[in-house]
Order: sequence, then structure tokens, then C-alpha cells
Amino acid sequence: MHRNSSVGILGTGSYVPEKILTNKELETMVDTSDEWIVSRTGICERRISSEQEASSDLALYAAEKALEAAGIRADQLDLIIVATVTPDTSFPSTANIIQDRLGAKKAASFDLAAACSGFLYGIATASQFIENGLYRYALVIGVECLSKIVDWTDRNTCVLFGDGAGAAVLGPVEEGFGFLSFDLGSDGAGGDLLKLPAGGSRLPASEQTIADRLHYVYMSGGDVFKFAVRVMGSSAEAALEKAGMKKEEIDFLVPHQANLRIIDAAVKRLGLSIDKVVVNLDRYGNMSAASIPVALDEVVRQGRIKQGDRLVLVGFGGGLTWGACVLRWSMKEKEQLNHG
Ligand code: UT7
Repeated sequence: MHRNSSVGILGTGSYVPEKILTNKELETMVDTSDEWIVSRTGICERRISSEQEASSDLALYAAEKALEAAGIRADQLDLIIVATVTPDTSFPSTANIIQDRLGAKKAASFDLAAACSGFLYGIATASQFIENGLYRYALVIGVECLSKIVDWTDRNTCVLFGDGAGAAVLGPVEEGFGFLSFDLGSDGAGGDLLKLPAGGSRLPASEQTIADRLHYVYMSGGDVFKFAVRVMGSSAEAALEKAGMKKEEIDFLVPHQANLRIIDAAVKRLGLSIDKVVVNLDRYGNMSAASIPVALDEVVRQGRIKQGDRLVLVGFGGGLTWGACVLRWSMKEKEQLNHG
């Protein structure tokens, strides 16, 4: 097996459903206002999947675009990881469904649950397989259909979330480029602050769990807010330190898109100017595991990221979980070695 010293992103893709739900429309559904949502979160509208669309449908489109951008065929993929808290079914995994629908015949595939930090956990995991030489190409997808598990009568949560999918193809890149560091963390003691209470082995679905509305997202918003402000800064700083990089060297920050005030706090702590920060929550709301890869794909396709740019991706979420990654951008694949 030939070890790969540098692993990076060879191509990205994303997809969001067509249907737009605006704050104005939400005003007719729950006791809220466009003014409250915009001033407290920065969100103006979000995308909602149709009754027929499940996470694998969104993920497939994003994956196809990422493969095309990378110039890799599905049958070259060695591994598929799907980060999601809204899989089509508990099992088979959504990654298994994608493996079949893409025709990724030789790929191992599994889902990974780390809520909004899922994409970061996914790229950290996939990159290890490539670095140690076991695999060459991996597809990592962050996808959510949160609209299917949100309580549309609960104004505390239903205004925040949206549906979408983002994907990245990982592979060996030129020496010195690609992922420079990862910082991952968790604090299970805070698990009750953000959760889907029923439908698992603790509280299987029953008439009672349905009557008690336990199949919807529960969140203690204020507590998650405080946690988020703390870890976004500290995790980004930890990843920078591991990469031997200073804050001033950051070209782009791609943060999890939960709340503009949380992003602002991280930006302030890192001393960044706002033109270095990728924000799309105004159009999509919080898409959990899909937030970071969709934001990354948008900025890549806008041509704003140049070879050698230094990116910090950072996120937090249910679990509680958090993660950050420092990445020196290059989509140039390292030549394949036929020996070793
Ligand atoms: O990806 C990870 C998942 N989640 C998050 O990252 C969310 C983190 N938390 C947040 O973003 C914020 O805490 C929220 C946006 C959820 C809430 O903002 P806040 O500034 O922390 O507001 P709050 O919870 O202190 O609520 C203030 C008031 C409350 O009324 P009272 O009790 O003070 O009378 C809420 O009932 O705002 C009320 N409220 C609303 N009012 C209008 C809560 N939701 C709404 C709403 N429209 N949609």
C-alpha cells in the first residue's frame, strides 16, 4: 500500500430542492415575524423537499455534480460516507442507497451521525483511509431533509431549518496541499439540548410518542447558542494551531450556517474581515450536515477560491459535537503511482 502524504478535495457539488419557503409564508403558519427571524438569525428563506423527495434524492444530485467536477467516475470510488440525521431509513443506510444509485460498484459505504458536525467528521474519517493508502477516492456527502422532522407548529425550531445536500470527492493531492489539520470533539453530557426524542430503541414509535410529538426536533436554543459561540472559536483556533497557521493567514472561513450572530462571534474572535466569510444561511437556513459542503461548493463554483488559498471549515451541532479543519486548496490530483 502506498501512503498519500497529502489528501484534499478534488471536486464539490450541491443541490437544494426547488420549493422556497419565505419568512412571510411562515408568518401565516406560526406566531412569528420576518423581522424576528431576520434580526435573531439572519435567515430570510429556506428550501423544502417535496413529499416524494428523500435525503438520498438530494444527495444523489450533489454527488453527481461533485464527481463531474472531480473528473472521477462512480466506479472509481472506494468509499462513500453520508453524514445525516435524516436518513431515508435507519437501515439500509443512505450511503448504501447512494452506492447503488451511482453504480459505485467497488465502494464500501456507511452513514455517519454527528448532526451538524457530520460533514467535518466525514471528511476527517474518509481522509484517513486515503492517507494510509487503503483507498484512493472517497465521496463524502452531507445531506438533510430536516423539514420532515421539524414540528411545523413549534416556532422555536421550525423557522430555523432547511433541506439540502453538499458533496465532496476526496483523493490524493499535490504535496503540501489538502487537509492540514482536523480538530474534532464531543460532549455527550449536552445531548438533551438538541435531539430527536423518539423513534429509536429508547422510545420506539407508539401512539403515545406520536401524541406527545416526540418524533420532532427538540432544541434548547439559548443553551445551544452559548455552546456554539464558545466552540466555533475554540475549535477553529485548535485546528489552526495543529496546522501551524496564524489567524491572519486565513483566506476563507466556511462556518456551519445556524445563526448569523453565532458566525459573527466566531469572526470577531478570529479577527477576520467579513469578505473572508462564506454565508448562505439567508437563502437556506440551517441545513445541518449539508450547510458546510453547500457553502463550500457555492464559493468554489463562484471562482472565489484560488489554488493555495487557506480555508478553515468549522461547525457544531447536536451530540453535542464540534469540528474544524484547515485546508490548503488544490483540486489538482497527485499522479497515480503504480508501485508500492
Ligand atoms: O445547528 C445547530 C442547531 N441549532 C442552533 O444552532 C440554534 C442555536 N440557537 C439560536 O440560534 C438562538 O438561540 C435562537 C434563534 C433559536 C433563539 O434566539 P434567542 O435570541 O436565543 O431567543 P430566545 O430563545 O431568548 O427567545 C426570545 C423570545 C422568546 O420569548 P420570551 O420567552 O422571551 O417571551 C421566544 O419565545 O423569542 C421567542 N421566539 C420567537 N418569537 C417569534 C422564539 N422563536 C420565535 C419565533 N418568532 N420564531
